[in-house]
Formats: sequence, C-alpha cells, structure tokens
Amino acid sequence: MNILVIGSGGREHAIAHALSVSRTAPRLFIAPGNAGTRSLGTNVDLHVSDLEGITSFVRRERIDLTVIGPEEPLVLGLADRLAGEGFRVVGPSAAAARLEGSKAFAKGFMERYGIPTAPHRTFTADRYEEAVAYLEGHGAPIVVKADGLAAGKGAMVCRTLPEAREALDEVLKHQSFGQAGRTVVIESFMEGEEATVFALADGRRYVLLPAAQDHKRAGDGDAGPNTGGMGAYAPAPVVTGALLNRVARTIIEPVLAGMAHEGTPYRGFLYCGLMIGAEGPRVVEFNCRLGDPEAQAVLPLIETDFVDLMAAAADGRLDDVQVRAREGSAACVVLASGGYPGPYEKGFPIRGLEEAAGEAVVYHAGTRPGEGGEVLTAGGRVLGVTGLGEDLRSALDRAYRAVEAISFEGMQYRRDIGSKGLARLSATD
Ligand code: GLY
Repeated sequence: MNILVIGSGGREHAIAHALSVSRTAPRLFIAPGNAGTRSLGTNVDLHVSDLEGITSFVRRERIDLTVIGPEEPLVLGLADRLAGEGFRVVGPSAAAARLEGSKAFAKGFMERYGIPTAPHRTFTADRYEEAVAYLEGHGAPIVVKADGLAAGKGAMVCRTLPEAREALDEVLKHQSFGQAGRTVVIESFMEGEEATVFALADGRRYVLLPAAQDHKRAGDGDAGPNTGGMGAYAPAPVVTGALLNRVARTIIEPVLAGMAHEGTPYRGFLYCGLMIGAEGPRVVEFNCRLGDPEAQAVLPLIETDFVDLMAAAADGRLDDVQVRAREGSAACVVLASGGYPGPYEKGFPIRGLEEAAGEAVVYHAGTRPGEGGEVLTAGGRVLGVTGLGEDLRSALDRAYRAVEAISFEGMQYRRDIGSKGLARLSATD
C-alpha cells in the first residue's frame, strides 16, 4: 500500500512513524518531510500548499491513501481535490475545515448548534469603532481573535483594556494577520484549565483518541510569548472518563450532526481545544487536524494498527474499528531554536540523537540533513522528545533524560512539561 503524508513537522513525523509500524508494512512518502521522516520513507519535495503538484504526485505514484497533517492544505481544499478524483484521503473538506479556518464561522456554528463556548461578537474592519465600543463596554480580561489562519498567533488573551485595544488595532487597523485580520472575533475570557480532546470522524461516526494537554507559552510557569506548543502529555488527568463522555455528547456529536446537516460532513481529525471550568467543558477553538506537539504524545499511545484506522476513516467505516490505547502515559518535550518564537538562527548541527533514542522517541520537526550526513536545525521547533512510561512521572523522566543527551547551539526547552498533570494526580492520590 502506498501512503502519502502531507507536512514537515513533528506531528507528521509521528503520523509517519505510526503508519510505518503497521502490520501492513506500507510504502511511505512524506511531502515535504524532514530529516527524521527520511528513515521511514521517501521525502518528496512538494510544498504543502502545492495542490496541483500533490494531486499529480498521487496520480503518478498510485497513492492509495493520503493523510493530511497541517491546516493550510485542508483550508485550501486539498482533501476535496483528491476525493474529487476518487483518491482516499484523511482530512476534512475545505467547507468543514472552516471550523479552524474562520473563527467567525466556528463561533456562528457553535451558536447554531448549542455547543458550549464563550459569548462573542464579530466585527469587520469597517466597524472598527463599534468594536472599540464593545471592548470598552465589556471590560477586561477579554480575548481578541483574528478570524483566519494565523499560525497559532491570532488569539490574544488581554488582561487589560489597553492591551485589548492594542490587539484590536493589530488585527483590524494594522492588518498584522493579513487576510486573517479582515474580521475580528471578540469573546469573553473563560476561567479554567485547558485540555484537548481529539476525535477521528468518517462523516457520521467517530472514535476518540487519548486527551492531551499542550504548553503554549515559551517559558516555564506559562510565562513568555505564545508558541505553536512547547510540550504535551497524554492522557490528560483533567479529562476524566465522565468528562470525556460529556465532551462527546455536548460537543463532538453536535459538531458532526451540524456539519452533516449543513451538507459538509466532517471526515478527519477534529481537535477540540477546551476550557474545563466550573461550567463544564467549553470550546476555546476547533482545529481541523491533530495538534502539534499533542500528536507526538497521543499517537505513541495508540495500539490499534494506524493504517487500519486511517483507511477506516477515509472509507467511512469507523464502526469497524476500535481505538485501543496502551496503559500508561506519554510526555513530549519540544526542543526549540534560541529566540523562538521570535527570530532565530538555523543550520546548527544536532548532537546526541542516537543516545537519546535509547530512552525516548525523538520526532523531528525543523530539521534537515547536512551534506556530511549530519542533522541540522532548520526551524523554530526542532525536535519533540517523547518518553513513554507506566505513569506520567516516569514518562516525563524518560523524556527529560533523553533531552539531556541532545544538544545544539541555542537549544531551549521548558523544564516544567506535565507539571499541571502531576499536581492533579498528586491531589487525587
Ligand atoms: N499545539 C496547538 C496546535 O496544534 O494547534
């Protein structure tokens, strides 16, 4: 079986790895991939937004199944294009991917189907003065979001009104988020603890994957700027079995029913970013894909053959499969370039990868092969080091022991991944 994975991050290395250990021994292609995915298959030099190039490649290489990792090609319609030519694909249509591609669409959709989320208002750039008046009437804390895709930087939690004014100006006046900033969503701040629940849907049915917790800020103690995610662990103790059932009933099932009702059935991964507070789980955001680095903690826990799972989702027969997750926990620590998420240098050799692999799974993200066979840094988030253990503590210990073996110039990482989970577990001991 020929399988193509679209993307080049740690999430896509984790997807390719999960596919590579299938009993079906698929032939893997990764477009464009990174230095780590080379050892699992063939890297293909195609950009994720090159819909024409990818579709030609699928035709030419007789790809049996395509798994799309990042949001950009989904929002651009890659899944529609492949499915339109009769190819099997895991990933939602562009219409369904609006759940991530447009915050205004997602909020309107949640309102239409009674899905719990924070109250909000939407304003276009020509209604700037009304947006200011709304902010001032509401007060802080408050959340200002650019409508479209903004590489994880478009949602700003503002503690004060001047901060909120600045965020509004960034989005509507300075158009710092480009097209994404023509419309702004302003929503009430939600108190609680964040967690992510993942479903995999086939248009009608769905299966749940282990819930995870991300670490969005660059620094320990959730200090510093927002990033794509500096670490993750799964399962997240804050998501109890009862809570997961409630999320399935009040969020995932209404999303799938609403999408089907609107003629855009949802197929693929659905990322439900949740705030778990006194009012129960409420939606912070939907993403139309797996999270990164959450995938690097969730996928190693899945024992079900991943090719079977992906094929069942693509073919609309998820009732044929069950997701089995191994006992224990997984914890992923992201190693980033110095300066990330701001400007950073790249091209530095990475040492210690083999030593680290004895202790943990090392997923590559921003890496590229050097001319002498060495691995070089090539992005902001460079590696995701995932430890597996019988519990969260031992998974974290393994991940951090592996991290100690790795070095590259400017390497930075958080030392407190999993601390909320550990605190919750010790409180319930
Ligand atoms: N780690 C957050 C995301 O993938 O959107």
